[in-house]
Amino acid sequence: MVSIRPAIRSMKPYVPGKPVEDVQRELGIADLVKLNQNENPLGPSPRAMAAATAALARAHTYPEGTCRALRERLARLWDLPADHFLIGNGSDEVFRLLAEVYLEPGDRIVVPAPSFAGYPLVGELMGAEVIRVGMRDQTMDLEAMAEAAVRTGAKMLFLCRPNNPTGAVFAEEALRAVLPRVPEECLVIIDEAYREFDETAFDSRALLLAFPNVVITRTFSKIYGLAGLRLGYGVMRPELITPIYTARDPFSVNLVAAAAGLAALDDAEHLERTRALVREGKAFLYAAFERLGLPYVRSEANFVLFDAGRPASEVFDQLLRQGVLVRPCGSFGLPTCLRVTVGKPEENERFVAALERVLGRS
Ligand SMILES: Cc1ncc(COP(=O)(O)O)c(C=O)c1O
Repeated sequence: MVSIRPAIRSMKPYVPGKPVEDVQRELGIADLVKLNQNENPLGPSPRAMAAATAALARAHTYPEGTCRALRERLARLWDLPADHFLIGNGSDEVFRLLAEVYLEPGDRIVVPAPSFAGYPLVGELMGAEVIRVGMRDQTMDLEAMAEAAVRTGAKMLFLCRPNNPTGAVFAEEALRAVLPRVPEECLVIIDEAYREFDETAFDSRALLLAFPNVVITRTFSKIYGLAGLRLGYGVMRPELITPIYTARDPFSVNLVAAAAGLAALDDAEHLERTRALVREGKAFLYAAFERLGLPYVRSEANFVLFDAGRPASEVFDQLLRQGVLVRPCGSFGLPTCLRVTVGKPEENERFVAALERVLGRS
């Protein structure tokens, strides 16, 4: 019998949400409103779609493994050399590669809680010990996280701004205050998956230049509307990237995704339309939560976390039966909270109407 690595044996398998097609078939709902994964309700940028379609004609060839054209475009955007960019099969792959190259069994990583499940996952995969640090006033407690990293000699500290599932942000000054205290041996990974929605975003590039252990990650899955193609990237010192090229699958990013991402970066209009849609949608959702007397967190991302005041799994089921798919947050340790992605106006309206029925307010 082959033996399974202990790290894998002790992990719980990731259970993805049911595929939309299954839900539709089981419940007999044709027009399901999908507000559970923070995708762009407007879809991909038309420019990205055109570029992806054109790239399909080259699908018989292997991709250029480092996505040179995309890195060069990002280099212009960020005003940094192209060797500072690591393109991944989603930012998930960037996290995983960092863990594979920089973590050993028994190492420690510090993660915020509640936050994105991908961080503890890559740590556990490598047999690292995951130290979870809770929030203070609904934002990341950077002081406590830095203190935990120093105290435990952690190798990685993950930050998420805006945070998933709260949409809350920490202050730039708070980050600048703690970064000098984190030893250089500890990578500080700042996940900016939702940055493009953030009206309080600050110049995180300056932090990269000031602190050699800072890594910034971004994704094409959210505002760029390319979640299904899997494309994300990390920005960091080239010395950190070089060993990753030894470990990675040389062709993990396919050429259709790379071409779509490149074109999406040039579609400022699509980005602005999405931003405006999300801004208005959030105002609509906030007003509804206030009317319903449900506590919620003001969000700098494209989703809103609210407290239904009753088991989220029940609310989730009842919403689903009305054709509205949201994210119950029990797995984040928030058993009465749900996260709803901001959709198109008619989708937001359907969600609110369904919620009112669930709460007996309609
Ligand atoms: C905070 C955060 N980071 C990263 C990701 C994963 O992004 P990607 O699709 O680029 O792997 C998600 C996806 O939901 C997320 O919420």
